[in-house]
Amino acid sequence: MAHLKVSNLRKSFGSTEVLRNVSFEISEGEFCVLLGPSGCGKTTVLRLVAGLDHLDEGSIVINDREVSNLTPRDRDIAMVFQSYALYPHMSVFDNMAFSLKMRKIPRNEIDCKVKETARLLELDSLLERKPKELSGGQRQRVAIGRAIVRNPKLFLFDEPLSNLDAKLRSTMRIELANLHQKLKATTVYVTHDQVEAMTLGEKIILFDQGEIQQTGSPDEVYHKPANLFVATFIGTPQINLLTGSLVGKERKLYFESGPLKIDVSSKAELKPFIKKELTLGIRPESLSPGEGQIKGNIELIEHLGPETLVYVGVYGNRIIAKAASGFQINRGEEISLALAETGVHLFFEGKRITA
Ligand SMILES: Nc1ncnc2c1ncn2[C@@H]1O[C@H](COP(=O)(O)OP(=O)(O)OP(=O)(O)O)[C@@H](O)[C@H]1O
Ligand SMILES: [Mg+2]
Repeated sequence: MAHLKVSNLRKSFGSTEVLRNVSFEISEGEFCVLLGPSGCGKTTVLRLVAGLDHLDEGSIVINDREVSNLTPRDRDIAMVFQSYALYPHMSVFDNMAFSLKMRKIPRNEIDCKVKETARLLELDSLLERKPKELSGGQRQRVAIGRAIVRNPKLFLFDEPLSNLDAKLRSTMRIELANLHQKLKATTVYVTHDQVEAMTLGEKIILFDQGEIQQTGSPDEVYHKPANLFVATFIGTPQINLLTGSLVGKERKLYFESGPLKIDVSSKAELKPFIKKELTLGIRPESLSPGEGQIKGNIELIEHLGPETLVYVGVYGNRIIAKAASGFQINRGEEISLALAETGVHLFFEGKRITA
């Protein structure tokens, strides 16, 4: 098992700087997810860690050993790529055995290792098949099996589920979580899918434009987003945002946006920001129909089954709130929304200022 420490990574392709000052640490046995929009540099980070690309600056240390100058072979890492190209003419068994054969491991040892891994991944009845005779999910498991047989110190996954349909993706997500429970291998998992990140990750590292925006547990990035990028990237429907300013009146603090006024007096940490332009973020589930400070008119209702989304026009802003399943109200009707005490996120110059 491995401990990975990445410090101050920089990488440019030509004149384009793709990674800036990327530092993170992953402890032994941890499942860490690199999350971010397309093009933010996730694959580049994995390729640098695996040794498939050369870094411009920084260091990569695995178990106290600097590996930046080692070849991919010598790093003892297995990477599962987004396009998990299996060898089409080889059976499942041979696909999984290939890297062990290359390393001249004795035949009976290979046999044992492949069969054990196949059992773990429930591929044991498929060992004689060729990739074209497998479903997408089975092929994906073979690609993962190919990585597992090598018994690497570190697993790198680059969007391994993105080729699968939604149903299979959620099944494989559960399988991957179970697999991690069994193997406890140190894993870096790349995805742009926040649901995958939230359900699989013990730690999430959120990237945007080549820079880390926040590192934390799924709970931390969701409930304490460090900046507006994180707040809006995570959560569906998206967090509601209102711009306004902080006003202090008679020992009380209000966030005011036009005629809308929200009492935030319980948050003493905000005092230094009186009279400043701020952005208020409220997640839809922190707002529910009930006596409260936010009033508006219903613009749209979505009955989703387990819950109802109401879109409310509030002085020119559209705010989304969550109501119970079966909640009934008509378009145009007036509604009052109650705001949960923990639902207030305030940002100054894009950065979180609420505790
Ligand atoms: N070999 C290369 N030459 C030039 N630019 C590159 C190269 N590889 C990647 N890039 C650029 O670097 C940036 C980051 O790419 P990267 O593949 O790491 O993104 P990503 O986060 O993995 O995106 P996706 O979610 O779409 O896979 C992109 O703007 C990309 O165009
Ligand atoms: Mg990528």
